[in-house]
Amino acid sequence: MAGRDAPPPVVGRALGALAGAVMVLDAELRIVATSPEAAALLGHSPALGRSAVAVLCGDTPDRPVAEALSAGRAVDAVIPHPAALAGRTLRVRARPLDAAGWVLLLEEGDADGDDAPVCFHGMWTRDPAMKAVFRVLSRVAVEDVSVLVRGETGAGKELAARALHDLSPRKDGPFRAINCAALPANLLESELFGHVRGAFTGAVKDSPGHFQLAHRGTLFLDEVAELPLELQAKLLRVVETRHVLPVGGREPVPVDVRIVSATHRALRAEVAAGRFRADLMFRLRVVPVFLPPLRERRDDIPLLVRTYVEDMNRKARRRIEHIAPATLALLSTYDYPGNVRELRNFLAYAYAVGTGPVLLPTDLPPELVEPIHSDRPELAEPARVAPSAAVVPAEPESPEARRIRDALSRTRNSKTRAAQLLGISRVTLWRRMVALGIATH
Ligand SMILES: Nc1ncnc2c1ncn2[C@@H]1O[C@H](COP(=O)(O)OP(=O)(O)O)[C@@H](O)[C@H]1O
Ligand SMILES: [Mg+2]
Repeated sequence: MAGRDAPPPVVGRALGALAGAVMVLDAELRIVATSPEAAALLGHSPALGRSAVAVLCGDTPDRPVAEALSAGRAVDAVIPHPAALAGRTLRVRARPLDAAGWVLLLEEGDADGDDAPVCFHGMWTRDPAMKAVFRVLSRVAVEDVSVLVRGETGAGKELAARALHDLSPRKDGPFRAINCAALPANLLESELFGHVRGAFTGAVKDSPGHFQLAHRGTLFLDEVAELPLELQAKLLRVVETRHVLPVGGREPVPVDVRIVSATHRALRAEVAAGRFRADLMFRLRVVPVFLPPLRERRDDIPLLVRTYVEDMNRKARRRIEHIAPATLALLSTYDYPGNVRELRNFLAYAYAVGTGPVLLPTDLPPELVEPIHSDRPELAEPARVAPSAAVVPAEPESPEARRIRDALSRTRNSKTRAAQLLGISRVTLWRRMVALGIATH
């Protein structure tokens, strides 16, 4: 795009006059034009034809712009200032110009306390606690310490483990994941540590386990709290000696593996209850990381909905151009026992079942529209469909009650508008309020 294709400087000036700090990129993300305002913000005037990703993101691990642009998504993100001025950030809004390229709007970001969205290795958030987790992950990734990620199902534990791997010096080595809850003890032992020929019926040849297969890489032990005690003892020995003993084998095999483990349980409580070895816990949770459930970071819900809609629009037959406010209200007040995975599944359902350019409440699965579900994720999966009418016991703290109260307070108690917001009729709203014991006057 350099050389004789370069636009005259007046184009950059005109863009600046219209929109301030702006960059125009071609479809390959190379810079086509930069307004003087954008150059001033960046501290230099980037050469035409240079990769905007390299100019803006350099080698920083937070690459929201890079990740979104290369995925062809519109993005609104705050990134560290590319000139690495301490504490300064740059807000970048990127809009696709169909397939022709991009326009980037740049702004000085707030120093901190910002609730702007970031994308960290596939994880989108605007939540300060999540951003703090990302900072911990990027710092500890380069150390060879064991990390224990705690979080509910679907909260992003495996993505966090992959981020640790991708940011570590082991990134070119293997990443292997094994779910410790999925197999009975004897199979799990040979999956983890391997076996030698003849170790048991059917063991016709030597077979390496996950530890050997993850050599020079990262092993992700998912649901590690479910590991039977006898295997906990064997795992501890591997961690201490850095050798594995395959089932039926005599010769310990050296392994160089970084362990990242995950659980939805409080491991300390498991130790207190005698179900988990304290010595192993201290080996595995050198750095504990907690991923908050989605219902505790509700501001992420609209962000994730938009991100998934943009993503699915490119892949699905349906194109959603607009999200009805009532739909967003429903999605924003649901409790998500299955966290981000459940949210994504709701949208996948809407793409499969619904039609038309507007995402309507009726495109969502029934449990969302009329939910009764427990606050305990293990009981709520799959969510049951509510029996209709007023057989639901009054329960002021239920998610449905909370949603209704929320809709009423947002509409300053207008039942007509609250019903619209919730996507139900005024009569239904009134009936649900009576059933749930919410004052109807
Ligand atoms: N913050 C996030 N932003 C975007 N997608 C996410 C986020 N967290 C989780 N996901 C998606 O949700 C699904 C579940 O994530 P995963 O890491 O497997 O959760 P867990 O291991 O805790 O069950 C995956 O499809 C993942 O890509
Ligand atoms: Mg998982």
